[in-house]
Amino acid sequence: MTPMVKADRVCKNFGALEVLKGVSLEIDPGQVLCLVGPSGSGKSTFLRCINHLEQVNAGRLYVDGDLVGYSEKNGKLYELHPRAAAKQRRDIGMVFQHFNLFPHRTALENIIEAPTQVKRVSKKKAVERAKDLLDQVGLSAKANAYPAQLSGGQQQRVAIARALAMDPKLMLFDEPTSALDPELVGEVLTVMKQLAKEGMTMVVVTHEMGFAREVADQLVFMDGGVVVEAGEPRELLANPQHDRTKAFLSKLL
Ligand SMILES: Nc1ncnc2c1ncn2[C@@H]1O[C@H](COP(=O)(O)OP(=O)(O)OP(=O)(O)O)[C@@H](O)[C@H]1O
Ligand SMILES: [Mg+2]
Repeated sequence: MTPMVKADRVCKNFGALEVLKGVSLEIDPGQVLCLVGPSGSGKSTFLRCINHLEQVNAGRLYVDGDLVGYSEKNGKLYELHPRAAAKQRRDIGMVFQHFNLFPHRTALENIIEAPTQVKRVSKKKAVERAKDLLDQVGLSAKANAYPAQLSGGQQQRVAIARALAMDPKLMLFDEPTSALDPELVGEVLTVMKQLAKEGMTMVVVTHEMGFAREVADQLVFMDGGVVVEAGEPRELLANPQHDRTKAFLSKLL
């Protein structure tokens, strides 16, 4: 089986700052991987490398068997044309901490934007699909609401629907609930759980350990730009092997 994501010794620097120092991991299709680690450990940077919003300095990243952001000839990498990189990115949905919805567009308009503009789907088809997606995230009644008229949890669910509208084969979530009031976290996690159940491959940066324990197939602990420890979530949470993992988890739980 081709892994949905394969990171092979991925390195990323910002100038002299080495942020990723050889990150390797694999995610099979349909799997959920939760990524945790202290602030500054490189989690967001790693996610951004997966859809080539960042260039890597060494190593290789593959999504569904395709080298991300580059073509390789005789062992040398050549960066893809921005248009080709954008095309690859279409298959990868990304959901951020701050929902990044267009403020002057309704929920429905936010969702149809990329399918109609990027994929040239007809407006009629895009609207039909958007309505289904709003239903899926429990927001059928809010199709015509503007982001400012929605709670944070509702906005994040629209953002998830918007990402799904492009029919991604992989979804990346960067702390999707950490900007939310505690009582709104659950509704977003419920949508994500459902998505996982339906077989979506997901990489989720989160500190929601309940979610990780219940939904994730793999839990990866990153610190200082390396994977310190990875494993089955219950196992890793119950029985961390490294002092750094223990120290981090003890602060979290
Ligand atoms: N564009 C950039 N230019 C320079 N340095 C950057 C850039 N983006 C990130 N960094 C640095 O890279 C390091 C890792 O950042 P990153 O955002 O990946 O961490 P993180 O694990 O997501 O942290 P957090 O939990 O706070 O979100 C940090 O030291 C950060 O300051
Ligand atoms: Mg981050």
